[in-house]
Amino acid sequence: MAPERPGGVSGAELGEEAQAHADRMRAHLVGRIHEAGGWISFEHYMEAALYAPGLGYYSAGARKLGPGGDFTTAPELSPLFGACLARQCAEVFDRLEGGSILEIGAGSGALAADILSRLESLGRLPARYRVLDVSADLRDRQRRTLEKRVPHLIGCVEWLELPPTADFDGVILANEVLDALPVARFRWHPSRCEELGVAIEGDRLAWAARPASAALTLACDALAQAAGGWTDGYVSEYCARLPAWTAEVTRALGRGLALWIDYGLPRRQYYLPERRDGTLMCHLRQRAHDDPLVHPGLQDITAWVDFTALAQACTPAGFALAGFCTQTHLLAALGVDQEMHTLAGSDAHRYARFAGQARRLMLPGEMGERFKAMAWLRNLEMPLRGFSLQDLRHTL
Ligand SMILES: C[S@@+](CC[C@H](N)C(=O)[O-])C[C@H]1O[C@@H](n2cnc3c(N)ncnc32)[C@H](O)[C@@H]1O
Repeated sequence: MAPERPGGVSGAELGEEAQAHADRMRAHLVGRIHEAGGWISFEHYMEAALYAPGLGYYSAGARKLGPGGDFTTAPELSPLFGACLARQCAEVFDRLEGGSILEIGAGSGALAADILSRLESLGRLPARYRVLDVSADLRDRQRRTLEKRVPHLIGCVEWLELPPTADFDGVILANEVLDALPVARFRWHPSRCEELGVAIEGDRLAWAARPASAALTLACDALAQAAGGWTDGYVSEYCARLPAWTAEVTRALGRGLALWIDYGLPRRQYYLPERRDGTLMCHLRQRAHDDPLVHPGLQDITAWVDFTALAQACTPAGFALAGFCTQTHLLAALGVDQEMHTLAGSDAHRYARFAGQARRLMLPGEMGERFKAMAWLRNLEMPLRGFSLQDLRHTL
């Protein structure tokens, strides 16, 4: 049956409560658009749709991750992911003779539970495991996950709503968080640049363009040049807030590693002339589509990460760029094979299940190549095992 609404999910499927939430979110957005004189930038739309207090996707109470949610991340798919990252943390702790972890955007808490379990079995528990997450309902869910899975370790876990201010040494982890940072959407013409935003047409939210600011025009001209030129009408995204945000969330790290994992590309590939519609992707009830104007507040809205921009943010934030590779190579280098044996023990069925999960995490057509990992080191020089099999820094 064809959906009643665009975006792949019908109103009936959403249910009354979700519909009522979407209606409140839409009323909020309409109010903001009227207040702003009939138009808001896409960046402000995305910020409101994801983070408006009590209404935004991450501020309100939808299930979001895992079965019955909207999308599945690597830690939801398999404990192998966390077990491998635990090994990278342990290597850094060995060098620092201890340390803490700050996980940014911890989702259901699955990654925290997997990492803590594996670090415990390696005898390398962190002094503290801090979670920085904007979502109150996900912070509750993380606590429940950890109370269930590692009740004896809950004492070392702490939840933060703002970046930490007290210095610590150790590891910062962020898996699939950068893709939620609000982005500007632009349309490029040889003689001018437009910023795409949201207006009201009849009773619908609709795309509308305005001349881009001088700052956005300058940024887009530089991107066009890096990409080797675009044709008239090229549409894509640009995340202006990435440098300030990454600097802020990593400020308290004294010595250690910041590990970013997300889907994205080096700039030249991200802004390829043939990718004429950008990289926006929405997730609702395990279906992906590219219309962020439907179901505001009910669906996740993401944009791919420009890893060249992330690399450029590294030095001003006080770090050295220590590695860039695909998720496949990260997990292979961290010993995913061994982790499969460790987690499965002598149970052949469990081993077969883990082998299937490893394929989804690592095959190029699945998550293996779309997802990349980038390592930043601050006041610490050491080879990182996770980046020992592949070095893609020259592609940035
Ligand atoms: C796509 S989920 C990924 C969850 C988890 N890292 C995983 O891999 O399963 C994004 C997570 O980041 C959180 N988040 C989104 N924007 C954030 C921000 N600006 N600061 C901190 N957390 C954020 C969300 O609440 C959610 O927990």
